[in-house]
Amino acid sequence: MKRFTLCFAILLSLVLSACSSSKVASSKEWTKITNGNLWLTASGDTVQAHAPGFLKIGDTWYMVGEDRGREWRPDVNLYKSKDLQNWTFVKKIIENGVTSPDLGKSRMIERAKLLYNKKTKRFVVWCHWEASNYGASEAACFSSDKIDGTYRIEWSGRPLGIKSRDCNVFVDTDGTAYFISTTEENQHLGLFRLSEDYLSVVEHTQLFPWQKREAPAIVKLGNKYFMFSSACTGWAPNQCKLSWSNNLKQGWSPLENIGDNKAFRTQPAAILEIKGTKTTSYLYVGDRWKDPNLAQSKTIIFPVTFTDTSCDFRYRDSFEINFKTGEWRETTKP
Ligand code: GAL
Repeated sequence: MKRFTLCFAILLSLVLSACSSSKVASSKEWTKITNGNLWLTASGDTVQAHAPGFLKIGDTWYMVGEDRGREWRPDVNLYKSKDLQNWTFVKKIIENGVTSPDLGKSRMIERAKLLYNKKTKRFVVWCHWEASNYGASEAACFSSDKIDGTYRIEWSGRPLGIKSRDCNVFVDTDGTAYFISTTEENQHLGLFRLSEDYLSVVEHTQLFPWQKREAPAIVKLGNKYFMFSSACTGWAPNQCKLSWSNNLKQGWSPLENIGDNKAFRTQPAAILEIKGTKTTSYLYVGDRWKDPNLAQSKTIIFPVTFTDTSCDFRYRDSFEINFKTGEWRETTKP
């Protein structure tokens, strides 16, 4: 009887400890993302990667963006994270006036975006490459054989001779990449197909003529493309609008207001896909510029839900994401 009681007690404690460790494991799978604060690295430095671009390799997110530490003439920094919350500084990948000395030190390097070319195995950065009065209206392309390697300038200028400012990139499911930018004095959006090696622009399609859109961000769900964009009001936030199409080059729906009239004080930078074992969630990433100054601009992330032709675009102070299953949920009370 004594032996039976002992066995039972051991069994019970094993079961209880298994239950409690699985509870810990499952709560650990949920990462709470909180908005509104400055992002700091573990060593306490401000994360300087504004208007960010992202690339996921394995379970690591890489982020490039504007180093606004000295406000103007930004360099481009590279960070990495496993949870979009804890960021480690990797290196400065483009240094103004140093990476391409022939172009001088007075460049405004804005909206750097990162691509990986599977054929050439090179990491490629496209960005807005501007003069201090925004008169150059140029883009630039850099590449490196390693994500944290030496980025060399590949090209700079007006893509196919077209004046180009705010920009982003988009890679379609067949691997074709596009540079998309605000063209001809902020009048239109230009969709520029890139060459197979992603290092040059080969084709231009004008989208949203005369509609003055910038900060474009595209995501594809099934066969449908969704695009967020802002109006052109400098650092001041404005209404985010949504458009969708079954074809990247034509048929975009009329721009439709989403969220509040200031995009919750943000401007679009990216739409991240969180692909998990159960579902895929989409996270909007936007810049809360000059909060209160350029160097302390905040990066804001919240989940967005796409339905057939619309999007639930709602700010949250915080939410929780499960990188394993791909699910997100409202923050649970402690
Ligand atoms: C915004 C643009 C930013 C930056 C800023 C300068 O409209 O989205 O990337 O260029 O203007 O005023």
